[in-house]
Amino acid sequence: MDKNIIPIRNRKLKGEFTPPSDKSISHRSIIFSAIANGSSHIYNLLTAEDCKKTLDAFRQLGIKIIRDKDKYIIEGQGLNNLGKTSKIIGCGNSGTTMRLLTGLLAGQNNHYILDGDSSLRKRPMKRIITPMKQMNAKIKGKNKDQNCPLQIFPSKLNGISYQLPVASAQVKSSILLANLYTNQETIIKEPNPSRDHTEILMNYLGFNIKLNDDKIIFRSSQNFKIPNSQYTIPGDFSQAAYFITATLLIPGSELLIKNVNLNPTRTGFLKVAKQMGGNIKTRNKQFLQGELRGDLLVKYSFLKGIKVNEKLIPKMIDEIPLIALLGIKAEGITEITSAEELRVKESDRLAVIRKAFNNLDLDIKMFSDGFRVYGPQEIKNKTYLDPYLDHRMAMLFTLIAIISDNGAVLKDSQCIKNSFPNFFDKLNKVIV
Ligand code: S3P
Repeated sequence: MDKNIIPIRNRKLKGEFTPPSDKSISHRSIIFSAIANGSSHIYNLLTAEDCKKTLDAFRQLGIKIIRDKDKYIIEGQGLNNLGKTSKIIGCGNSGTTMRLLTGLLAGQNNHYILDGDSSLRKRPMKRIITPMKQMNAKIKGKNKDQNCPLQIFPSKLNGISYQLPVASAQVKSSILLANLYTNQETIIKEPNPSRDHTEILMNYLGFNIKLNDDKIIFRSSQNFKIPNSQYTIPGDFSQAAYFITATLLIPGSELLIKNVNLNPTRTGFLKVAKQMGGNIKTRNKQFLQGELRGDLLVKYSFLKGIKVNEKLIPKMIDEIPLIALLGIKAEGITEITSAEELRVKESDRLAVIRKAFNNLDLDIKMFSDGFRVYGPQEIKNKTYLDPYLDHRMAMLFTLIAIISDNGAVLKDSQCIKNSFPNFFDKLNKVIV
C-alpha cells in the first residue's frame, strides 16, 4: 500500500515514547516456553507478524498457546514432545523463526519442512546447515542447501566445536538449540560477539552455559528439565533507534524513550550516535531476567561525521541504514565498512539505500561492504521510495520523508507490520 508521507516542517518530536517489545527476546521466550516443563507466562510479547509466525509454528507442533489480556500463556511440553505435522511450517519473512526452529527441530524425532516468503527464500541457509550437518543433523535445503524450503529428518545429534565464519546470533542460537539434544558439550567461537539474548535466557533458566575467553561453552544434559517461567519483555532498541534518529535530526526535539532493552551487544548505534555528538542520556538502568533495560532522554543535536569502528558492526547490524541518514545531516564524512551482512537481510539493504539516495539526489559513495556519505545535505526531491518489502528500510524512508522539504510516497508501507505494527500511530503521537 502506497503511503504519502508529509514533511514535519516546523513541528518537532516531544514527550514520551515506549517502543514495541523486543523482537529477538520475544522469539526466544516463545521457543524456551514451548520446550519447558509446565506453563510459562509472557508479558509484553511482541505481536508483530514475525513473532506470530513463531507462535503459529508451535501451535502447529501441538503446543497450546492462549492470550489472556496482557499475557501469553504457553503450555510447555518438555524437550522431546513437539508434535508431528505433515503441513509446511511457514516462517513468512522471519529469518529468526526459520534459523532458530531449524536448530530446535533437528533434534526431534520427526520430519519437518520449513518455508518462507519470497525474501526469506533468497536468504542464506547454508550458514546454519553447515554446522547442523557437523552435528549429524539430516537437513536438505534448496539449491544445494543454499536456500529454503528446508527439509529436516530425524537423527541423533552430537556436540561440536565451531568457529562462526560471520558473527550471527541466529546461527549461534540455532547451534545452541540443537545442542539441547546431544547430551554433550558444544563450543562456539564468533569473530566478533553478536547479540547474546539466547545465552542470557539459557543462563536465567539454569542451563550449564558459560562464556570463557570469547568462547561459548554449553554442556547439555538429558536430565535437565527446563523450568516454566515468567518473562517480561523489554522494549526493542532497534525500534527505539528510529525515534532516536528523528529526535537528533529535527530541531527543537526532545524525547524520553521508556523501558528499552540496553543489552550492550545491541547498542552499538547508541555509541556511534553519541560519538557523532548526539545528546543522549541513560536513566533508570536495571537488570530484569538478565537483560539490562532503562530509559533514554534524547535531544536534538549538532552532529559531526565519523568513521564507524568495524568492531561495532554486529552490535548495530539492524541500525546501520540509520547511520546513512545521520551522515547526510552531520557535518563532514561518515563511513561504514565491514557491513557486507546488510546484503543478505530482508532485502539487500546496501542496494536499496543506493537506489533511494540516487532518486533523492543525495551524494553517497557505495562500497561492497558499506558506504561513505558527505554531509550536511538538503533532502529536496519529492520521490517514490521503494523499501523492497523490507520493514526496516520502510521505517528509514519514513524518516527521510518527514525531514525532507517535500515529503515522499512510500511503497508497500504495510511491510512495517513485520516488526512494528503501530509505527505510524506512535510516530504521529510524538510529533507536535
Ligand atoms: C537476530 C539476529 C540478527 C538480526 C536479526 C535478528 C536475532 O541476524 O539482524 O534482525 O534475533 O537473532 P543475524 O544473526 O543474521 O546477524
